[in-house]
Amino acid sequence: MSGRIPQYFIDQLIARIDIVEVIGTRVPLRKAGREYKACCPFHDEKTPSFNVVPDKQFYHCFGCGAHGTALGFLMDYDHLSFVEAVEELAARTGLDVPREASTTPTANKPTQDHYTLLEQAGEYFRQQLRNSPAAIEYLKKRGLTGETASRFGIGYAPDAWDGLIKQLGQSDAALQALTQTGLLIERDSKNGFYDRFRQRVMFPIRDSRGRTIGFGGRIIDQGEPKYLNSPETELFHKGRELYGLYEARQATRQLKQLLAVEGYMDVVSLHQAGITYAVATLGTATTPDHLKRLFRACNTVVFCFDGDRAGRAAAWKALEVALPVVSEGQLIRFLLLPEQHDPDSLVREEGREAFESRVTQATPLSEYMVNALSTRFDLSHAEGRDQFTAEAKRLLALLNNDSYRTLLYQPLAAALGISVDRLRQLIPPPDAARENPARSAASTPLESPGRGSLVRQLIQNLLHYPAAVLALDQLDELAQVDKPGITLLVQLAGELKAQPDLPVAALLERWRQRPDFHYIDKLFLKEPPASSLEIAMDEVKKACARLIADQFPKARFDELMHRFHLGTLSAEEKQELRELIRRQGSR
Ligand code: GTP
Ligand code: MN
Repeated sequence: MSGRIPQYFIDQLIARIDIVEVIGTRVPLRKAGREYKACCPFHDEKTPSFNVVPDKQFYHCFGCGAHGTALGFLMDYDHLSFVEAVEELAARTGLDVPREASTTPTANKPTQDHYTLLEQAGEYFRQQLRNSPAAIEYLKKRGLTGETASRFGIGYAPDAWDGLIKQLGQSDAALQALTQTGLLIERDSKNGFYDRFRQRVMFPIRDSRGRTIGFGGRIIDQGEPKYLNSPETELFHKGRELYGLYEARQATRQLKQLLAVEGYMDVVSLHQAGITYAVATLGTATTPDHLKRLFRACNTVVFCFDGDRAGRAAAWKALEVALPVVSEGQLIRFLLLPEQHDPDSLVREEGREAFESRVTQATPLSEYMVNALSTRFDLSHAEGRDQFTAEAKRLLALLNNDSYRTLLYQPLAAALGISVDRLRQLIPPPDAARENPARSAASTPLESPGRGSLVRQLIQNLLHYPAAVLALDQLDELAQVDKPGITLLVQLAGELKAQPDLPVAALLERWRQRPDFHYIDKLFLKEPPASSLEIAMDEVKKACARLIADQFPKARFDELMHRFHLGTLSAEEKQELRELIRRQGSR
């Protein structure tokens, strides 16, 4: 694993780039005063409500609420991960992304070399395919066109132990690097290296930017193992990658749905048939990382499995993985194919239209779950109904999403032949936080300051007027105040003090990986409480004094009394002193 991207670099990057330029190359922007407008790329609209604000290096759609920094925009619009978005922006600016030193010994190896090597290997395999009539014949027999083979960069690893070594392994360093990419295997120190992939059709696996990060190799005709994948490497993680996702994005700018299938050949064959939104996990069960990737690209995922027992088991596994991950607005459906078929064979037999009508009619998650449970348990007996209920309860507890849960009560109750109210008694919805302390702690890591609270007003002022942090001179005392949100406030103020001219966009990026990002992000969108920096400074000063005074009434009392004797109290402070005296009297 490579190390983290250091914070200073993100700050620097945000300061260097211009959000207007980043968004402008993707969405046509029109200048309107100090801002830029466009029709929002994230929802359908006729009149522009999408605004880009250069002063804040921020965008916001008043129609659908989409908003964020340039990095956030790339993540949402190009469906990139945070790291990918950073790399993309850095590449534009001509900066190299530094990594913090990591403890793993390979961390300092230049990964750029690995990308290049993998690309060169892919090129070598493609050239070998052109020279191998047997491999070409095999692909033809399986119905692939040359165009498809080239779209997926398919190649062929010849029947040799040193094909790749002869081609790319000229030096010790190259041999080492090729081994790290998984293309070579080291026999032992005396006997050197050999090619991992031999006599196989080679499918390059690409990351979301189209860089080859690994390969899948299929044996020609019969043999064991049928498929061989690259091992886990610094660049390649089986449980995260989706074969065909890059190609799917190339085919469709805004993906509406993705069809998740099991095999390489399924993806390739579906794309060839015109179903270019098919992707596959790499011979592993669906993982939460897969789901996150899928849902970063679109809101609807259709899981497609073979209709045999193994296919049904895999579908159920996918369902269990999906429950904790799926959130509002995300749809999951299941498509089980007729037995004896996989997507490749079926689409070749019945064609695109018939296959797509199956996709359209795929079973929604809720229905699939209830059907599967109803088949598994014998609902004509009390015992079966109890088991059904217990299993339903376990599954509902996995959900992290209230609307899905609500949706499921009805069909579950119907299957049991009882009322929804009765089912709610049997399986109480875990609405109260104390019923599921683990989850509620994870989803609200921060005790957020309530609406109208002083802490919230302070945070909001600082977000809109970072320079107002200069009015905050009692951070140590503030840190001891026992109010929700104080930790966040003190952290925010601390970072701003160190760098009061930090652009807000950079500030937001610092928070992106922290648990309270959503809170900061939301407050940033709100109108600032103060209408100018001066007013903000005044408010910050007063709010801070007020919080400390509430926490330490004795110290505040002493201070006010002292200043009372000096005759320097404002009318407000006199009132406060009176209040303190009154309160002390009532103790
Ligand atoms: P074809 O026989 O070429 O049509 O393959 P398929 O894509 O239909 O594969 P299958 O349904 O047999 O398996 C689905 C996926 O599981 C494959 O695409 C591979 O990713 C993976 N897989 C299958 N067999 C093996 C194997 O022997 N080893 C490994 N590592 N993965 C396999
Ligand atoms: Mn197949």
